[in-house]
Amino acid sequence: SQSTKASFRKASGQVNFNNGRRKKVASIMIPLCKAFGPMFIFGAFLKLSQDIMIFISPQVLKLLIQFIDGDEPLWKGYLYSILLLLTAIIQTLVLSQYFNRMFIVGLRIRTALIAAIYRKALRMSNAARKESTVGEIVNLMSVDAQRFMDLTAYINMIWSAPLQIALALYFLWDILGPSVLAGLAVMIILIPVNALIANKSKTLQIRQMKSKDERVKLMNEVLNGIKVLKLYAWEPSFEQQILNIRNKEIKVLKEAAYLNAGTSFIWSCAPFLVSLVSFATYVFIDENNVLDSSKAFVSLSLFNILRFPLSMLPMMISNVVQASVSVKRINVFMNTEELDPNNVQHDQSEIHPLLIENGTFTWDSSDSTERPTLRNINLQIKHGQCVAVVGSVGSGKSSLISALLGEMYRLSGRVNTKGSIAYVSQQAWIQNATLQDNILFGKPLDKALYTKVVEACALMLDIKMLPAGDQTEIGEKGINLSGGQKQRVALARAVYSDSEVFFLDDPLSAVDSHVGKHIFENVIGPSGLLKKKTRVLVTHGITYLPEVDNIVVLKDGEITEVGTYKQLLEKKGAFADFLIQHLQE
Ligand SMILES: Nc1ncnc2c1ncn2[C@@H]1O[C@H](COP(=O)(O)OP(=O)(O)OP(=O)(O)O)[C@@H](O)[C@H]1O
Ligand SMILES: [Mg+2]
Repeated sequence: SQSTKASFRKASGQVNFNNGRRKKVASIMIPLCKAFGPMFIFGAFLKLSQDIMIFISPQVLKLLIQFIDGDEPLWKGYLYSILLLLTAIIQTLVLSQYFNRMFIVGLRIRTALIAAIYRKALRMSNAARKESTVGEIVNLMSVDAQRFMDLTAYINMIWSAPLQIALALYFLWDILGPSVLAGLAVMIILIPVNALIANKSKTLQIRQMKSKDERVKLMNEVLNGIKVLKLYAWEPSFEQQILNIRNKEIKVLKEAAYLNAGTSFIWSCAPFLVSLVSFATYVFIDENNVLDSSKAFVSLSLFNILRFPLSMLPMMISNVVQASVSVKRINVFMNTEELDPNNVQHDQSEIHPLLIENGTFTWDSSDSTERPTLRNINLQIKHGQCVAVVGSVGSGKSSLISALLGEMYRLSGRVNTKGSIAYVSQQAWIQNATLQDNILFGKPLDKALYTKVVEACALMLDIKMLPAGDQTEIGEKGINLSGGQKQRVALARAVYSDSEVFFLDDPLSAVDSHVGKHIFENVIGPSGLLKKKTRVLVTHGITYLPEVDNIVVLKDGEITEVGTYKQLLEKKGAFADFLIQHLQE
């Protein structure tokens, strides 16, 4: 997978083999065993004792029947009955303890896996992120992690089922001799029949789900477009369509019900059939064989014990196969490339909060022939400064911020940041929650600060216009905000976080000029809320540049000039060109 990656470059017609970073594929199984092994083994021990206890009952039963036939003292009869009750009670207690423990282990394994997958998703490198979609990651968390949980409750059957079968056969052999094999043969014949039925019911289930999806989708469309539907009087035709799908669904449900009835029938007949065949063989095989009550009842109870492991075993095998597929899928995901946490250092003894020394950064590490996106970057930003980053489209302004955040591959140089960071990305990002929750972002509500932030970010008017004020739900399922509104919410979230360093990637690009002015004056500028913070402001707006402390000019991935507005103007270099370009537009 990761270790032998070959890339083909069309332009130069060359193939690159990327064997450099050969890494062993790590598996999730080892840490899982280490973390949950002891508890699991304790459960297995409970299961083993229960397995052994099951076989005590038939023995006691045998004694009891012999007691009734013979003339032993009365107290022995009482003893046997009490013993029978006790073994049943203890065995049930042990079994429920076992299931309790196994379900807890299963739940914990699932939770651990979900957390690990989530953390991994946050650490994935840019290139790896392209390979797995959000849907896949959600699937890993919901489906694959769930499989583990389903499996752990029953995984012990893998050894317990053969053990139970062997013990039952051993005791049966004692009673009935080789005739047991006839009954066993019937059971084994029933296994594939059962598997066949299970398979059939699975396909029926899939078909039913398909019809259901179809119906729900159509229903959704109908409800969404109910106005149009009514306007054109299309109700009957749509009703017919939905009914057609419904009928299909009902047909499948009927089939499934018949199938279920069949299975139940076979399943309840099976024990009778098995005992009938074994007893018949036993009686007919030899004149001397007599089926007395002790033999009959004891072997019946043993046959009953056989039933469960025999039916579970095939299911267990398919479950194990499924889980192993899940392990593989999760392993592939967990082994994808990660961002190097050393991309950015956090040396507190550094004087400046933000520092890049001789930095070279790229987005795609596998493509070594490509020119790095950012080259020869030297940047020092003093505490409390507001630094503007300007440059034409695609010059690497957003990339520079990503480099400071550690999102890019660092090919050389050193990056150091100090203090907490708030980042307003170029693409404003909104959670599906209330507007207020979007700004608070998990922090407790400080009414005074909140009002101040909302006012400074010019959100007051927007909140007044929303149906439920700042309690209006926004995002995917809520009200759609305009681009400018989203930007201001994102900015407000950053300001409310009260971090020490602010990365603002073009936060005013989609707001009106007078709103932009308001925000710059009240938030970003030298008299705004953030005046004491270290700020990096990427901007295309030249109006604010005279008011910032320093300006960094980026051109084609390199810093061409650094200085105050005045210094840069006097230089008549790239910055002057940039200004002229803007004034002409
Ligand atoms: N997340 C990313 N993954 C891969 N490549 C990227 C990513 N972001 C930017 N790039 C690449 O980096 C280069 C510089 O883009 P960048 O977004 O930094 O420019 P910019 O100066 O911010 O432009 P704009 O003014 O349009 O915001 C471009 O070639 C772009 O394709
Ligand atoms: Mg950008």
